Amino acid sequence: MSHAIQTADLDWQLVDGIEVPVSKQFGDVYFSKDNGLLETRHVFLNGNDLPTRLTDLKPFEYFCVGETGFGTGLSKPDLIRALNVWPELKPLADQLISQYPMPIAGCHRLSFPEQRFSLDLWLGDAHDVFPIMEKTAPVNAWFLDGFAPSCNPDMWEENVLNNIVRLSEIGTTFASFSVAGVLKRGLKNHGISISRPRGFGHKREMLKAIWKLSEPANSGADQDITQKKTALNPELEFNVRQIAVIGAGIAGLSAAWAFAQRGHQVTIYDQSAPLAGGSGNPLALLNPKLCPIEQSAEHLMTLAWQHALTHYAKFKAFRPIQVSQLALKHPETLLSLANEYPAHILSVQTADEQKLHTEYSSLKLLAAGTISPHQLRDEILQHPNIKYIQAKITKIEQLSQPELFENENCLGQFDHALVCSARETAQFFEHYPALKPIRGQVSWLNNSAQPLSKDTAYNYGGYCMQLDDTHLILGASFHPGREDTEVLPEDHAHNHELLQSVFPDYAVQRYVPKVRITFLYSVKCSLNRKFIVLPV
Ligand SMILES: Cc1cc2nc3c(=O)[nH]c(=O)nc-3n(C[C@H](O)[C@H](O)[C@H](O)COP(=O)(O)OP(=O)(O)OC[C@H]3O[C@@H](n4cnc5c(N)ncnc54)[C@H](O)[C@@H]3O)c2cc1C
Ligand SMILES: C[S@@+](CC[C@H](N)C(=O)[O-])C[C@H]1O[C@@H](n2cnc3c(N)ncnc32)[C@H](O)[C@@H]1O
Repeated sequence: MSHAIQTADLDWQLVDGIEVPVSKQFGDVYFSKDNGLLETRHVFLNGNDLPTRLTDLKPFEYFCVGETGFGTGLSKPDLIRALNVWPELKPLADQLISQYPMPIAGCHRLSFPEQRFSLDLWLGDAHDVFPIMEKTAPVNAWFLDGFAPSCNPDMWEENVLNNIVRLSEIGTTFASFSVAGVLKRGLKNHGISISRPRGFGHKREMLKAIWKLSEPANSGADQDITQKKTALNPELEFNVRQIAVIGAGIAGLSAAWAFAQRGHQVTIYDQSAPLAGGSGNPLALLNPKLCPIEQSAEHLMTLAWQHALTHYAKFKAFRPIQVSQLALKHPETLLSLANEYPAHILSVQTADEQKLHTEYSSLKLLAAGTISPHQLRDEILQHPNIKYIQAKITKIEQLSQPELFENENCLGQFDHALVCSARETAQFFEHYPALKPIRGQVSWLNNSAQPLSKDTAYNYGGYCMQLDDTHLILGASFHPGREDTEVLPEDHAHNHELLQSVFPDYAVQRYVPKVRITFLYSVKCSLNRKFIVLPV
């Protein structure tokens, strides 16, 4: 897979007052010169009968559209320029542009909560991307929109088409401006029925297709699954769900928010109070350890960092900040990442260029941020679909639906229960990955005489950043295997020594005499497996 995504080289042609982008590489237009918006409505929306099918959807019914080839050249300025032509699209275009992803391979999720849809934008070559897409739910309608097969044969090859069908189900429809033989033959080979209604503008024909129940399917197993899940199945119920979340740390609050945004009713329970656990630090830093770019599409931390940037930006609790990751160990390996990622995301700073005197160069992460967990909690708990209740959940009874208990007291029955109780999660499950406690403690101290700039945090094994106008926050001690929770002076000393080891002038000369330390401690847990899937 090519991971540093190349944005397209475009020509812009003015046709009847509309700027039409043309790919220099493929020698073809991104949309019809006769009017791209009307073409889209005719070919893709009407070609998939979407006006009727979307109107007929029940309130919480799931519907998935797949598209091959996205947007206009993958560069944000080009996208803005192309979309400017259609003022009626502006409310949606603005949301798309504001969360448009970095040009890094992988799946990028964009959210449009008001309109109740999300967009999973897979950046990468179709041949690499399609095979790794999970069929979590089938695609109901396809927009087959590469460049014309004559100039872009790759996009219409059997391998791509096989995957498109794999991701589909009985009842899925397909539409394309192209009626090229390769496409018609490919779909027919999978038993998909094709018609060729009138095309858009000067085009005589377009392609409209449906995978019908009566046609032979490509796989019996697939057919079984898809028939149960099909949007045409009248037995499925689509209702507001009652969701219980156990634990009001960052994980529980964020999960609650995600469900509430989709219109579901959420009750969060915490045994003590929201942010009583590891999430209660005064400030959290979004500071990922990025992978070499060729691993980006599969590296959870790198993908999560990109998602977090657009997700948290919707909250007042978020503040953009840059992070200087000091190159202490294996400096060449760390600093070489700057050559792989786009220049507006990572750069190298020499020791001389640092604002604080140090002997270390750094990798500067230009897209990062801080989150105030307390402000985030307040914003999330204001959501009208979220209710918070203090209760220690002692048992989940798994009947037809989960029932939650505090001792003998049944608190209610829910459609789904999510357990976000950090270390305590294991108590609810018979088989659960072993969790290892890690003791950690942050410190903060008065630095009003010489505050750091609020636009940069520093990472050096520990980390430091300006907490407010008068305080510096220092993190964090790290003791795997320990679960004691007292505040320890030696952990504060440790945090300060870490600072001193990289910024000796700043730490010693200016701040030690003025230290006023307040505390927070916690035990954090790490998993000895990469992923867990929580039963809901
Ligand atoms: C010192 C320190 C510094 C850190 N710094 C950062 C940072 O800068 N950036 C970063 O990204 N991460 C940081 N982390 C890690 C981060 O804080 C944790 O990964 C995160 O807070 C975990 O959130 P959580 O919601 O899973 O767990 P928690 O915040 O621990 O929440 C679990 C909640 O479940 C509740 N609970 C447990 N059992 C029950 C029950 N039976 N019934 C009801 N409620 C229950 C608890 O009361 C608690 O509120 C740091 C961690 C520590 C310790
Ligand atoms: C005609 S444009 C359509 C764009 C989009 N559907 C729209 O309406 O704006 C074709 C798109 O297919 C993309 N494309 C071509 N070959 C591809 C391949 N092998 N893998 C992934 N995308 C490809 C191009 O980059 C381009 O964005």
